[in-house]
Amino acid sequence: MNKITAAITGVQGFVPKDVLSNEDLAKIVDTSDEWITTRTGIKERRIMKNGASSDMAVEAVKGLLEKTNTNPLEIDLVVLATVTPDYPFPSTANLLCDKAGLKNAWGFDLKAACSGFIYAISTGAQFIETGRYKKVIVVGVDKMTSILDYQDRATCVIFGDGAGAVLLEPNNEGLGVIDFILRSDGSGVEFLVQPAGGSLNPPTVETVEKRMHFVKQEGKQVFKFAVTNMAEVSAEIMDKNNLTSDDVDWLVPHQANLRIIDATADRMGLPKEKVMINIEKYGNTTAGTLPLCLWDYEKQLKKGDTLILSAFGGGFTWGAVYLKWAYNS
Ligand code: UT7
Repeated sequence: MNKITAAITGVQGFVPKDVLSNEDLAKIVDTSDEWITTRTGIKERRIMKNGASSDMAVEAVKGLLEKTNTNPLEIDLVVLATVTPDYPFPSTANLLCDKAGLKNAWGFDLKAACSGFIYAISTGAQFIETGRYKKVIVVGVDKMTSILDYQDRATCVIFGDGAGAVLLEPNNEGLGVIDFILRSDGSGVEFLVQPAGGSLNPPTVETVEKRMHFVKQEGKQVFKFAVTNMAEVSAEIMDKNNLTSDDVDWLVPHQANLRIIDATADRMGLPKEKVMINIEKYGNTTAGTLPLCLWDYEKQLKKGDTLILSAFGGGFTWGAVYLKWAYNS
């Protein structure tokens, strides 16, 4: 019997309708379209004015079920990556299952910041590969505007809100998730963190006054780690699987900074045409970036295409996933 692999059989994204452009941000903090564009590649991002992460996730999941003609009652499991859950508990996956009518599913949240989607798809794939489950939904969603400090120009310009979801189903043609390399280094906490709101610094008047509930990032340090590790792990998964740059059809990189994406593509020997990029319109949506890329490029993907998904984020967390695309749109 052929080995069962976990194939993506559909992808759907959701972004809120409201747009926050670089020019809009220049009215709020001391920045400019020129600075943001040249340093990051971002022109605008979507912001969710009302609602929570689960509301974006539910839109993506409902669209996914519709386009794949899937009965919500057939979904076995939801693995949802986010750092901006609706509540500390219950989990956003839990709420999503209720809101999307996934009555027979259970689910859990997975927190790996910008690497959330690659951690989550690698996890979800295991339940398919064992033969235990037939339909697993993997979601990446973040409402970053809920933890952004609009007095901190170094962070508020880079993030946006968005969600994406994929359906994983068993495949016996060798398509789907083939391999992954996942890494973590908790010593990175000092460079990228939401300092308060957890058990170390529970909410107090002081934590609020000190603006400790917002994202804090030492951009230059994170950049250094990101640019090296994302490029290295992407090259490593190619070596491990004997893939040359000609074998790779698409790099699906985390959308944090165009300069990090370019460095990763260069390290892999890939030309620009093979790199998925949508950072200019959504910014960094944290766990949302990779499924939003797949959604945007879905029509260009062909059955059998070789994809490398790659990300780096808070933790630090990073890694790469090698997968073979399973359908033509
Ligand atoms: O996705 C999760 C992982 N995160 C990342 O991968 C992000 C990695 N880091 C980055 O992408 C970049 O470090 C940033 C885009 C965040 C910042 O770019 P940078 O080229 O590293 O800038 P910097 O932080 O070194 O700051 C350079 C200058 C500073 O001014 P001085 O000290 O040279 O006078 C900043 O104060 O740019 C200033 N600056 C700004 N100026 C205009 C910082 N933010 C802004 C801004 N507008 N928004």
